Amino acid sequence: MADSYKPVDPDRPDLDEGTNVVRAHAAVLADNAAVVRERRVRENGLEPVSLWVIVSSAFALLVAGAVLNAGGALFSYGEYKVDGYVQAAAPGGGDEGPYTAPMIDALSKNGAKIYAKCAGCHGPDGMGDGAQFPPLGGSEWVTGDTQRLAMIIMNGVQGEISVKGRTWNGNMPSQMVLNDVELASVMTYLRNNFGNSTGDIVTPEMAGAALELYKERADGAAVAPQVTEAELNADHGKMLSGEVIDPATIVDLETLQPVEAAGAAE
Ligand code: HEC
Repeated sequence: MADSYKPVDPDRPDLDEGTNVVRAHAAVLADNAAVVRERRVRENGLEPVSLWVIVSSAFALLVAGAVLNAGGALFSYGEYKVDGYVQAAAPGGGDEGPYTAPMIDALSKNGAKIYAKCAGCHGPDGMGDGAQFPPLGGSEWVTGDTQRLAMIIMNGVQGEISVKGRTWNGNMPSQMVLNDVELASVMTYLRNNFGNSTGDIVTPEMAGAALELYKERADGAAVAPQVTEAELNADHGKMLSGEVIDPATIVDLETLQPVEAAGAAE
C-alpha cells in the first residue's frame, strides 16, 4: 500500500479515493515541523517580540533609572506634604475638648506670649542685661505686692529704683494696651517663671481692678505718667483686690473659665 501513495493533485478535490489522509499529514508534518510550530505560536498571540519593542523598552528603563537615581524628583510627593500637619477632627466626631489646664498653667501659657513685649529689654531669660535693664527673675517688684507690679507694667517706671540690692536709674515706657486677661496672664507668668515661684495666680478680676486704678490715675488723660519707686511704695504696697482662686482650678484654655467636672462643660 505504501507504494500506491501519490502526491495530491491541487486541481483535484481534497480527500478523493486516491488520497491517504494519514500519509498526507505525515508528509506535511515531517517535512515542515518548524513551519508548523511557528504558525501555531502566532495563532496563540505569542509571536516573537519585535526588536523595536525591545529596544524602546530598554531605553525607557534607562531613562526611568536615571530619573530615580537623580533623587526621584519626578516621583516625589514632597511638595504635597506639609510638615507637622495634623488633620483636624471632623466636626461632631471624636473628642473636641474643651481643652483644659490648671488655671496657673493656662494663664502662664498666655503670659509667655505677652512677655514678648518685655523680652527685648528684660531678656528672654528675664534676667535683664546687667547694664540698662534690671532683672525680673528674683525681683521683689515681681514677687511682691501685685498692685505695685501692675502699676509698673501699666504706667512704666522711671528714676532710681532698687532691684535685688542694686540701684537702677532708667526709663521704662508704659506697656499698655493690655486687657484684663492679658495683664493677669503676664503677671502670673512673671511670678512663676525665671526662678520666681509665688505659686499664686493673678486673676482677670484682679487685673481688672488694676485697670480701674490705672484709669483713675490717668485722670482723663490718654496716657498716665510713669510711676516712681517712691509712689509705688507709698501708694501701691498691697495686693490687688479680687477673689483668691486656687491656682490648680481646672479651666477651659480658651475662656479661662473653670470647668466644673470632666464632661460637664459641653
Ligand atoms: C524699653 C525697655 C523695656 C520694656 C519693653 C519693658 N521694660 Fe520693664 N523696665 C525697663 C527699665 C529700664 C526698668 C528700670 C526703670 C528704672 O530704672 O526706673 C524696668 C523696670 C521694670 C520692673 C521693676 C524692676 C524689676 O526689675 O523688677 C518691672 C517689674 C518691669 N520692668 C517689668 C516689665 C514687664 C512685665 C514688661 C513687659 C510687659 C516690661 N517691663 C517691659 C525697661 C523695659
